[in-house]
Amino acid sequence: MPRTIAEQTEHELGGPGSVLVRQRKDHEELDHLLHELDATTGRAQEEVLTRIDRLVFSHAFAEETVLWPVIRRVLPDGDELTRRIEAEHQEVNELVAALEEGGPDHPERPVRLARLVEVLQEDVRDEEDLLLPRLQERLDAAELRRLGRRWELVRRVAPTRPHPTVSRRPPGNALSGLPLSLLDRSRDAVDAVVRRVPVVAPAGQVVSRGLAAVAGLVERTPPARRGDGPPTAR
Ligand SMILES: [Fe+2]
Repeated sequence: MPRTIAEQTEHELGGPGSVLVRQRKDHEELDHLLHELDATTGRAQEEVLTRIDRLVFSHAFAEETVLWPVIRRVLPDGDELTRRIEAEHQEVNELVAALEEGGPDHPERPVRLARLVEVLQEDVRDEEDLLLPRLQERLDAAELRRLGRRWELVRRVAPTRPHPTVSRRPPGNALSGLPLSLLDRSRDAVDAVVRRVPVVAPAGQVVSRGLAAVAGLVERTPPARRGDGPPTAR
């Protein structure tokens, strides 16, 4: 049984810059944010949720386009292992989309939030205890650092919002990644202004909804859905 990456030293994980070190760092940040989410309500909780979204969607997009294809290439059971993680990511996409659509007063909000926390925690455990230690057995430190750089580059330009209809596998996610990222990041910028400058809020909200509608169209184009299969296809 390979050792969880949670308990290894940075050196054992391939040194700073290794994909395993970078993964664990993000997972730790997520853990802090999930605790904060639990300790807040109302407007403050909304803001923590936004920070969680920005972290997890770009993180997962880069996994699905860069890391999981490598895992499928180097591990005989890579397909099955990554399928399990992709199903968790799909559920996160659907839960966050439902939370956004439902707004702060939806009766199902507490149940959806609780489930979101649960799935995100399960996802981290599956990656750190099952998937990433198996990848570690197949790659040397230099390869882990190379993969770390590639993952980081993609993560920085990845979409930052839920897109439940997009394929969880290439080529659909890779093809739609750039337009969705531009739309998501424009919306992030508009929403940040709306929060800071209440007087422009009505106009800002119209722009934000417009960008969301365009993203919805991109998400539903046939190229964006290519590569998906059960259980993550919608
Ligand atoms: Fe991860």
